[in-house]
Amino acid sequence: MSSLGDLDYKDPVALLAALETHSIRAVARACGVDHTTIMAARDRALREQAQPVTDPAKELLEYLRSRTVPSAPGPTAASKPGEYATCLLGSDFHFPHHHEGAFEVFLGLADRIKPTEIAIPGDLFDFSQIGRYVRDPKHYVPIQTDIDVCREHVLGRINTASPSSVRRFMVGNHEEGRWQNYLFTRAPELSSLRCLTMEAVLGLTEMGWYWQPYEHWITDSLITFHGDRHTSALGGGSAMSARKEMLDMGCSGITGHTHHAGAFFREDRTGYRVWYEIGCLCDARKMQAAGVTTHRTPTKAHDWHLACALVRYRPGHSAFRVELIPIVDDGKRTFCIWQDEELTA
Ligand SMILES: [Fe+2]
Ligand SMILES: [Fe+2]
Repeated sequence: MSSLGDLDYKDPVALLAALETHSIRAVARACGVDHTTIMAARDRALREQAQPVTDPAKELLEYLRSRTVPSAPGPTAASKPGEYATCLLGSDFHFPHHHEGAFEVFLGLADRIKPTEIAIPGDLFDFSQIGRYVRDPKHYVPIQTDIDVCREHVLGRINTASPSSVRRFMVGNHEEGRWQNYLFTRAPELSSLRCLTMEAVLGLTEMGWYWQPYEHWITDSLITFHGDRHTSALGGGSAMSARKEMLDMGCSGITGHTHHAGAFFREDRTGYRVWYEIGCLCDARKMQAAGVTTHRTPTKAHDWHLACALVRYRPGHSAFRVELIPIVDDGKRTFCIWQDEELTA
């Protein structure tokens, strides 16, 4: 640079070029600053020149690529292959208002899994004939017809789908409750007749079903029964009654009754517990049409969940796992996804 007139001493390249042909003091004079300012600017320029311009993103990428992949020993938890017993549960069919598609899916699961046990924890029948709802008379069917058709169409088909399963039936409020209410209020004098017990009327024992009034312990820490805790706290909904049932019982369990699917887990000083509500296999639309639900018009949908459950357990051990299996009716088809399969009605 021959002239220092337009020199910007803050430009490191220009400054170093000027200093090749001019003294520090000459440059300082030309820039109107002290010579120590020019010396400091020169030192800074020389330092920057010594350090090549770097790309931080590129540096980071190179660092990430250069890292060694750590190796670690495999898991120490030992798997214990063995025969697990299985219990397939489906609740709240409310025959004849059962959901045809969901029932087909349930049958498909029974056929596919061939579970050790199949359990229906109540409300297999609706028995609207002896209920408190005022029914549309055009839907009236004699109660004996309901029993006969359900035995053949529901229980008989479950028998065929998995003939080797131990089959258990527990009563729900729509069976024992309605039956006793009717007898005790309308025909108390006849209510003690053995031929009028719910067990005798349904005749399930003759079909190879264990009459399991009220409850069945799947393991020594897991009970199943129909359930009677229906909560509307916070608007009700999934798993809210499961919490109540667990607080009542103090153990793990599986119930129907609410037609909700959900689970409530708890860990405290007494250990781990879980309570499952396993949804229903009834058709809300059929029940609504028959006028046997609280929502008698389609204005409000029923917050009911089609589902069933599969329990895996080792007989004689307390460990178990409950698999809740949602069943979806999307308006075109009804299906569930179980393991890597889709079972469609
Ligand atoms: Fe029910
Ligand atoms: Fe119920």
